[in-house]
Amino acid sequence: MGLLSIDEGLCKGDELCVADCPTAILRIDESKGTPKMIPGGEEMCLRCGHCVAVCPHGALDHAEVPLDGCDPVRKELTIGFEQAVQFLRSRRSVRRFKDRPVERDTLRRLIDVARCAPTASNLQPVEWVVIDGREKVQGLAEQAVGWMRSVLAKDAQPAYAPYLPRLVAAWDAGSDAVLRDAPCLVIAMAPKEAANGMVDLALALSYLELAAPTLGLGTCWAGLLQGALLSHPPLKGKVGIPAGYPHHYPMMIGYAKPTYHRLPLRKPAKVKWD
Ligand SMILES: Cc1cc2nc3c(=O)[nH]c(=O)nc-3n(C[C@H](O)[C@H](O)[C@H](O)COP(=O)(O)O)c2cc1C
Repeated sequence: MGLLSIDEGLCKGDELCVADCPTAILRIDESKGTPKMIPGGEEMCLRCGHCVAVCPHGALDHAEVPLDGCDPVRKELTIGFEQAVQFLRSRRSVRRFKDRPVERDTLRRLIDVARCAPTASNLQPVEWVVIDGREKVQGLAEQAVGWMRSVLAKDAQPAYAPYLPRLVAAWDAGSDAVLRDAPCLVIAMAPKEAANGMVDLALALSYLELAAPTLGLGTCWAGLLQGALLSHPPLKGKVGIPAGYPHHYPMMIGYAKPTYHRLPLRKPAKVKWD
């Protein structure tokens, strides 16, 4: 049996699936008036599920994106532009967290939505490491500060990172400006085979950070730890990023302490209209 099966009783021959297929591997079988895959199509199929999703009749099933597993779009949940703008603009980087662990189930729900972000060729290459618990996260912040100290020992005022001395001084004064006492850290990563791995994982993290506040959680991209991971590869092993995973980015996550009441201004978009 091939990847596609068509319920000929339900199919109206409207060709919506044919028109929507990103790799153009569907054709109408003239003898039946229903779609079929072209020879060799199985290798070219992205497994994106568009053919299943676009059919209003539920007439098309895909062996690897089964109709049964594709939830219907619930029209009553659709949001308008104004709501979308407020939702997107109210996302904030959170740097103060409650002293409360993040439940594993909650993390699972967030990762579950993050895996639905777009990926190049629908490769879905993003994998996750969860560093769970404030002490473990602080241990990593300490390692990052250790790396910063070794940088400062060679160059007390590095031009490429002028903030390093202040971060180390803050740490010595008992304040974690690297990972902000976060109770948890998620690291999204992708293997070297994923040509667009960094883009794919950044989009997944963005989905996660947008969904997080709906569960009371706040997030912040951990760029300082990322700097330490890139400059000091042994740290990658310590956080659980395996060899062969050059694409990665850590994100702090925890229950948010601050509430924001305004949407801060941003620079006007620079656009060239051609
Ligand atoms: C790739 C990336 C790395 C970041 N790294 C850090 C970081 O290490 N520490 C931090 O406090 N904020 C970090 N941020 C958060 C930015 O400072 C923040 O997005 C920016 O100030 C705008 O604020 P907003 O996210 O609340 O809109 C990072 C953001 C991005 C996108």
